[in-house]
Amino acid sequence: MGIMTNQEEHQQQATRIQQYYAFQSRIYDLTRWSFLFGRSAILNELPFEHEEPFHLLEVGCGTGHNLVRARHLFSEVKLTGMDVSGDMLARAKRRFSSSEEVVFLEQAYGNNCYTWTGKLDVVLFSYALTMINPQWETLIHQAYKDLRPGGYIAVVDFHDSSWTFFKKHMAGHHVRMDSHVLPVLKDNFYPVREDIKSAYLGLWKYLLFVGRKV
Ligand SMILES: C[S@@+](CC[C@H](N)C(=O)[O-])C[C@H]1O[C@@H](n2cnc3c(N)ncnc32)[C@H](O)[C@@H]1O
Repeated sequence: MGIMTNQEEHQQQATRIQQYYAFQSRIYDLTRWSFLFGRSAILNELPFEHEEPFHLLEVGCGTGHNLVRARHLFSEVKLTGMDVSGDMLARAKRRFSSSEEVVFLEQAYGNNCYTWTGKLDVVLFSYALTMINPQWETLIHQAYKDLRPGGYIAVVDFHDSSWTFFKKHMAGHHVRMDSHVLPVLKDNFYPVREDIKSAYLGLWKYLLFVGRKV
């Protein structure tokens, strides 16, 4: 077998995730509130006023949980939600009326995205980077390119677990938990907020990070 190109690797990751969410999208909103912690907190950390206009891209927006909340918190925000799973996006679209003007894009991030170079105010990754393997680091670099100087990356995600059985369980759901995301975020962005929190008496830790592009 030959060596895969980047494009083929992105495609393979996207296909894996699309297959996973074909079923999981149906139970997503019923179940994820019980373990995707910190999603409200990360939006509260964004340093924008309620009526300030800015452009937020959520990569891996899923069923639109964060986009709904962002619209509520920031009345003038321009929202773009991107996801590889059409099943997840279909649910996100149902949450908005056309007058609320959210742009939804069904595509993988980080594979030749030239649309926003130096323009975005915020790129949000909420429980997405640890599922985007092995390309997660490329996506952080893409966010750096797409943000304007002074713009923010906001990340909430799994961080690590001391329990091998739990890591294995999560790997079965395409999630990597090796404390691997935070060092790369800190290498590329100036930390405005950085926190590692414990869930379910230490079964796992999750990460909150807001960093500024300097
Ligand atoms: C755990 S869900 C998080 C959804 C949402 N951000 C939330 O917090 O509820 C991860 C999402 O990332 C999406 N995703 C996975 N790989 C992706 C990629 N390469 N580009 C864009 N989205 C991706 C999945 O389809 C899924 O909807």
